[in-house]
Amino acid sequence: MLQALQERFGIEGAVTFVAGKNGLPTMALRHASGAGAVIYLHGAHVTSWTTPKGEELFFVSRESRFAPGQPIRGGIPVIFPQFGGGELPQHGFARISEWAVLRTGVAEGGEITVALGLHENPETLAMWPHPFALELEARLGERSLHLDYRAQNTGSEAFAFTCALHTYFRVADIRRTALLGLEGVTRIDTLRDDIREVETRREIRFDQETDFIYESAPDSVLLVDEGNARKLRIEKAGMPDYVVWNPWIEKSRRMPDFGDDEYPWMLCVETGVMARPTTLRPGEQWKGTTTFRMEA
Ligand code: BG6
Repeated sequence: MLQALQERFGIEGAVTFVAGKNGLPTMALRHASGAGAVIYLHGAHVTSWTTPKGEELFFVSRESRFAPGQPIRGGIPVIFPQFGGGELPQHGFARISEWAVLRTGVAEGGEITVALGLHENPETLAMWPHPFALELEARLGERSLHLDYRAQNTGSEAFAFTCALHTYFRVADIRRTALLGLEGVTRIDTLRDDIREVETRREIRFDQETDFIYESAPDSVLLVDEGNARKLRIEKAGMPDYVVWNPWIEKSRRMPDFGDDEYPWMLCVETGVMARPTTLRPGEQWKGTTTFRMEA
């Protein structure tokens, strides 16, 4: 399989198909600057993004499963058609489905572009009776990673969905991490009965379990990782909300695929449609984008 993928979609020096953990097929992207990314076909899951100097920007738990039917704990889980709990498996089925490679290329400016797709199959139809087409395009630049996420209703009845790019950022120390840009935004506290409040902090800091949905939020926030002296800009378009999550001590202990001591090294800043579902009529397409940019 890897050889066939390499022959069809490999690009010398830029896109290489390799066996990931437990032999799962992955694509390794290499930008001319030395920046890199790794994407598993399982879940269209980006598990690594590295700077030209080789610094890793994404967190992946050492306890993560890498197995068909199981989500990967870290990187960017792609969530569809249900964010969180509900009738479907938690966070939907996209993150536990096998995606297909659609295309690969190198853009004029040198960005490495790859696109993966997923559409309905007997397993998804058994859970959720709707034909759909998802596409995730990733573009790797010298100091940026751009994700272009699309969902289309290819069936004959309308459907509603929620979705997300559930990104786990690696930080040196969560107690020395700040998130800026959400002051004045309504947040839903999922740890306190979904109470709605306005965020009053200019700098959001972390000293306890945190699980907020920031509703209809601005399209740009800044993640400051003081321990690594890094600033990462997160920009979104077509996606109204963010979720900001850190499991802290007790919840870490309850998660079998997450080390008890790992919570200080990660923060999820997720972009998507989480607060309320969006509806696609037959033939309609939804598109949301997210860009991560190193500022320092
Ligand atoms: C976040 C939710 O998006 O995902 C949290 O807000 C949840 O409540 C977290 O715990 C992780 O979910 P999962 O299914 O990957 O363990």
